Amino acid sequence: MRPREPVPDYAGFARFYDRIMGDRTPEIDRLLSYISRHRPGARTLLELGCGTGALLSGLSRNFRVTGVDRSPEMLSVAARAVPGARLLQADITTVTLPYQFDVVICMFDTLNHVVTVDGWLAVFRCAHEHLSDGGLFIFDVNTTGRLRRLWDAPPYLDEFDGNVVVMTVQPGRDGLSLWETRIFQHQVDDIYKLYHERIYELGVPLAQIRAALAGRFELLEEESLDGSPVSDQSDRVFFGYRRRPDSRS
Ligand SMILES: C[S@@+](CC[C@H](N)C(=O)[O-])C[C@H]1O[C@@H](n2cnc3c(N)ncnc32)[C@H](O)[C@@H]1O
Repeated sequence: MRPREPVPDYAGFARFYDRIMGDRTPEIDRLLSYISRHRPGARTLLELGCGTGALLSGLSRNFRVTGVDRSPEMLSVAARAVPGARLLQADITTVTLPYQFDVVICMFDTLNHVVTVDGWLAVFRCAHEHLSDGGLFIFDVNTTGRLRRLWDAPPYLDEFDGNVVVMTVQPGRDGLSLWETRIFQHQVDDIYKLYHERIYELGVPLAQIRAALAGRFELLEEESLDGSPVSDQSDRVFFGYRRRPDSRS
């Protein structure tokens, strides 16, 4: 039997992603509130790791939107969801666009998908390079504490449209967390087709994130998902940073 080729991230997951992730209105509202508070005249927005365009579709009413993602399958869902968006297939650690934006976002643990600290620094550099003076960089992360807690959590199980999804998080190589998503897509009677996705995530201590950004950005917002004090034990943490005007390098 031939060894199985590794499946690229999100290749099978893309068609189910929006259905499984559900309503994204709370995040869209949070982004709009950060932007109206800190960059009220913003007109252009870039999403690094835009996936299926679930956020861009809500934001395209207010901004000219651009999305970058490395997954062609996710981008093809995004192209249908947000026909007016400029979409590019590229890696967010290396992409260079000939434009600057008022706002750059990187959401829903996309940063955690970058599995080295050097990679995170490259994404921060990319955000910086694509922001106009005083522009906003908004992102979220899964904390180190949350990822570790998930190692001991029972599998997440749900049914949708006759299909079944099972999600687990386990310790992976090099201290990473391995998210395994198995989607059993109903075919006929009791026959199901399995889509099995493996995605690694890196947790980075919050102090290290703040230190990496401090030179070129000013911290404006730092919030946990449930509004409790932010720490490495929080679940998801949202950051809003302003690009310092004199920091083009
Ligand atoms: C959890 S999804 C989030 C998608 C979207 N931001 C949202 O809120 O629904 C993570 C996305 O990041 C993309 N991604 C991960 N690492 C990437 C990289 N290095 N370059 C480009 N895209 C990347 C994946 O393909 C996937 O679409």
